Amino acid sequence: PQVSISDDKARVSAVLPSGESVEVLLFGATVLSWKDAAGDEKLWLSKDAVLDGSKGVRGGIPLVFPIFGPASSDHAPTSKLPQHGFARTARWEFLGRSTSEGSSSSVKLDFGLSADSITDSIKASWPYKFGLLYSVTLDRESLNTTLVVTNDGDKPFDFQMLLHTYLSVKDISTIQIGGLEESMYIDKVDNASQKQQPSSALTFSAETDRIYTPAKGPKNPITVSDAGSVQYRLIRDNLDQIVVWNPWSEKAQAMADFSPNEGYKNMVCVEAGSVNGWQRLDKGDAFEGAQTIHLP
Ligand code: BG6
Repeated sequence: PQVSISDDKARVSAVLPSGESVEVLLFGATVLSWKDAAGDEKLWLSKDAVLDGSKGVRGGIPLVFPIFGPASSDHAPTSKLPQHGFARTARWEFLGRSTSEGSSSSVKLDFGLSADSITDSIKASWPYKFGLLYSVTLDRESLNTTLVVTNDGDKPFDFQMLLHTYLSVKDISTIQIGGLEESMYIDKVDNASQKQQPSSALTFSAETDRIYTPAKGPKNPITVSDAGSVQYRLIRDNLDQIVVWNPWSEKAQAMADFSPNEGYKNMVCVEAGSVNGWQRLDKGDAFEGAQTIHLP
């Protein structure tokens, strides 16, 4: 049995012979779905998610580049960009499957975006020659997403990047995030104040929007557990921050593309990225950042 791949020019999907699957929307190279062999969905996707590239997808794994959050006059080169940048709405190119022929227990799908394929208005706002190569690798028990950023022009540029993963959970009230103990974080729901996570796991009972810089090294997994049993184990590569976000009821209701309203109970965003300050890429240089989410 072979891996089956389908590409209808809007979405690319791959299914392993053992049943695991992944689906990627070309707008944003957004992973929309990741299912295990039993067909259980691992990513949360809003029923009213906008899938035509006019805004980022509410769910799955939108790719944040080259700015995280709203633009600010504090950083002039990115000050004209939309919230979370343009990579999540641009139309990417499917470059094909790059796994060694014949492997049936994993598949790697490659997607590309360059300065040549973004709109003139974005080019005018961010006039750099960049290349993005995004690889989505589905294994029987994990999903890896890797972004390689290259500077193909003459001018250096600064960027931030984030893998904005919406994980599906049964009940946010019993979810615990481990691996952030003692870590410093910026609390975006409390005037961006600097705080420190106590030596306990993170739990949820209200709107939560935090930028953590995990105190333990990158090899230490971030775990998402439900009533003590691990559901996901996230390993970062070259990404120093973890953003944790749940909008809770009021904010969920206020988002036109967030549906159902009660959906906030079934999702948690755990987002590996490089968003504290800026990565600078000189002419000809490359940066690679990745995450692997393992199932228990
Ligand atoms: C999170 C941010 O990463 O994304 C939040 O920390 C933000 O502040 C959320 O609200 C959703 O952003 P957007 O642009 O997809 O509505």
